[in-house]
Amino acid sequence: MIDTIANNSSIKFDNQINDYVNLFDLVPCLITVQDKNYKILKYNREFADKFGSKEGDYCFKAYKGRDKKCVDCPLEKTFLDGNIHFDEQSGVNKDGTTVHWIVKTSPIKNSEGEIIAAMEMSINITQQKLLQEKLKKSERKYQVIFNNIPNSVFVLNSETLKILDCNGSSGSNYGYTREEMIEKTFTDLFLDKNKDTIASLIKSSSIINKVKHQHKDGSTLFVTIRISPSEYHDRKVFIISCSNITHRLETEQQLIQASKLTTLGEMATGVAHELNQPLSVIKTASTFIMKKTNKKETINDDILLTLLNKIDSNVDRASKIINHMRQFSRKSTMEIEKIKVNDVLDRAFQIFNQQLKIRGIDVVNETDNDLPVITADSNCLEQVFINLILNARDAIEEKWGNKPGDKKIIFKTHSDGEHVIVEISDTGGGIPEEIADKIFEPFFTTKEVGKGTGLGLSISYGIIKDCGGKIFAESTGGNGAAFTIKFPIKDNI
Ligand SMILES: Nc1ncnc2c1ncn2[C@@H]1O[C@H](COP(=O)(O)OP(=O)(O)OP(=O)(O)O)[C@@H](O)[C@H]1O
Ligand SMILES: [Mg+2]
Repeated sequence: MIDTIANNSSIKFDNQINDYVNLFDLVPCLITVQDKNYKILKYNREFADKFGSKEGDYCFKAYKGRDKKCVDCPLEKTFLDGNIHFDEQSGVNKDGTTVHWIVKTSPIKNSEGEIIAAMEMSINITQQKLLQEKLKKSERKYQVIFNNIPNSVFVLNSETLKILDCNGSSGSNYGYTREEMIEKTFTDLFLDKNKDTIASLIKSSSIINKVKHQHKDGSTLFVTIRISPSEYHDRKVFIISCSNITHRLETEQQLIQASKLTTLGEMATGVAHELNQPLSVIKTASTFIMKKTNKKETINDDILLTLLNKIDSNVDRASKIINHMRQFSRKSTMEIEKIKVNDVLDRAFQIFNQQLKIRGIDVVNETDNDLPVITADSNCLEQVFINLILNARDAIEEKWGNKPGDKKIIFKTHSDGEHVIVEISDTGGGIPEEIADKIFEPFFTTKEVGKGTGLGLSISYGIIKDCGGKIFAESTGGNGAAFTIKFPIKDNI
């Protein structure tokens, strides 16, 4: 009985040993056992399949084809301190390709606790290494792109708007080093002092146009900001891209100014007519007073007062016309303010009233006097209306020439509750269908050389867009054209 039990447990023990030997053999990584002379005592199947080595070979020879022990050998460290050691090692395959391993060594002790051998386990990490390198390469590539995008790019904490990262261009565009930038909150770059409003605008918008930012040297730069929420190192962030539009705005201003000068030339005739009227009143009154004085005749006090009043009011009228011209020609940056669109239309038509009358063109005013205010730059808007009046005048002249006919420019204003709508239409030849999609392009003109530069409508389009409005053209066949401008009421006020 006892014998049977002893036999059974010995069978069990043998089975267990067999199991462990099998496990050792089948582990899906390289395992070897080396003695203190670095000679291989045992190895598993994966090692045999890969290196075909035999017991008694030096491990450095078997693994790497070396004649000497490896530098930084983890096995040596285990023999020295009896601890487990890790290392990352590289070698060359038979086909010349590089192979990377994680090597782990652990001591094997006898019953007295002395280290008699060590086990070495190697896991091939070549694939992971290659992926890591690919990742690093791609990170480097994106870092180079990030740094060299000509726009300034910022990564902001989406709560505090603190700058977490920025690209190289942001340094050169704003004059700060990256380190200085990272000390800042994005709202510090704004010229506007109302940081809370700016912060809520950034958090709620995807694009902010024409913002004034400040360079380190104190100068102002105009930027358009694009904002997209994202994640960065597991944090919620805003990726901000700022494109510097200062140069573009300066060029636009120069173009507007150039077109203004052309318009001023046109206005000069109108102004001459306009000035003629008050001047003749002043002349008549002053001649009358001079004559009476020369003849030593007295002038009745009432008459004298009426004459002086006439002179005074007409001097005022003349100065108003001159001031209007002076203000119109002033070079200025856009100043958006609350305005009454009818007032600006009146001013523009007044200048050309006389000139249009002489050419037999009637001006029909169908404005609604009860309109909400809009926001725009009144000077620039006047330029838009003048451009449209001059285009209408030219179209009518081209169609009718000196012949009498239905020559009319009609201006209407009304509101649909959301917009203030201005319409300027004429009874000229209309816009031919084939050029309808080109008329707002810069330098597009059908007028003869020296008459048109083709800038009027493209500049008008830009000005209306900057006021948040829209401008469309419609042609009523050969019976004239109509230009409609829509200004939003809600957004702007
Ligand atoms: N009311 C209109 N009727 C018919 N065609 C028009 C009218 N307004 C504009 N156009 C067409 O659109 C073109 C472009 O107009 P735009 O005002 O931009 O330039 P322009 O009048 O030719 O030159 P500029 O305004 O610079 O002196 C005109 O040449 C004309 O062909
Ligand atoms: Mg024009």
